[in-house]
Amino acid sequence: MTGCAGFIGSHLTEGLLGGGAEVVGVDCFNDNYGRAQKLQNLSLAREWDGFDFVPLDLALGDLADLVEDADVVFHLAAEPGVRPSWGAAFERYTRNNVLATQHLLEAVRATPEKRFVYASSSSIYGQAETLPTHEDMTPMPYSPYGVTKLAGEHLCQLYHRNFELSTVVLRYFTVFGPRQRPDMAFSRFCRAARDRTRVDVFGDGQQTRDFTYVGDAVAATIAAGTRAAIDGQVFNIGGGVHASVNETLTLLTEIAGCEIDVRREPRQHGDVRDTSADTTRARRLLGFEPATGLRDGLSEQWSWMTAVALR
Ligand code: UGA
Repeated sequence: MTGCAGFIGSHLTEGLLGGGAEVVGVDCFNDNYGRAQKLQNLSLAREWDGFDFVPLDLALGDLADLVEDADVVFHLAAEPGVRPSWGAAFERYTRNNVLATQHLLEAVRATPEKRFVYASSSSIYGQAETLPTHEDMTPMPYSPYGVTKLAGEHLCQLYHRNFELSTVVLRYFTVFGPRQRPDMAFSRFCRAARDRTRVDVFGDGQQTRDFTYVGDAVAATIAAGTRAAIDGQVFNIGGGVHASVNETLTLLTEIAGCEIDVRREPRQHGDVRDTSADTTRARRLLGFEPATGLRDGLSEQWSWMTAVALR
């Protein structure tokens, strides 16, 4: 499990441990957000005997020893975030999303029967021409981040075709819930509601997302690690909850029971207008059945945000 201290990674680690797996969790605690939150994300996993933590930067060195004994490699470590990926930051994105992925694939080459699950992103589609978007639509990223996630996908596909690695790619659509990264919309909105500070809404707020509750993303990811006969497949993982940014703010106002002070800011470069996942393939081959809707999931995230002050 790479990225085990991150938002989705820490939930996945707990899901795997709960299912009886032994997990070697890797994370380099890079500084894209606070170490305190990442440590707290890991705290439950660390109580399990079946969990080993390896602090490691995947872009450095040989990873053969790391993956040698694994049946499945879940690669969730990444430099995340769409809007900050311009300019000088791109070097971090290429290093942590492309180079690190290539290092891990090289390490797995010696034992190609291992399953290799790669966490990709809806951002590889860019301004999708067809909504809901099917996996076979031509990817056209709209942000440097999306370019690096698509490059990671291409690496998986070429190691699958050349060396018969058992790769599976998951395109997550805007995942939310407890432990969501602090830079993401719902985290910012909940923090502002809790602290009575202002939120920035980019553009007219009418942009829509297919939001995915983290528990549903984890269930799909575990299925991707274990299901037979899905080598080389690509799956959309979208919660099927389609809402605009403005609608989510209205919902949070109801959940939090207070008004939220909104400042309108210009649309951000790299931000796409709409995302919507066609999940037919994931439902058929992974048994994907998203169970948590927007109101329940956002309520969970709100409870988490108000339970501890450090976020
Ligand atoms: C999210 C993640 O940040 C990416 O890492 C992930 O790859 C991507 O989902 C994905 O689906 O592939 P994004 O959809 O931009 O990216 O998610 P949020 O950061 O939660 O933003 C959602 C919307 O809210 C965006 O349109 C954004 O412009 C808007 N927003 C965000 C605001 O209006 N104000 C804010 O303060 C933050």
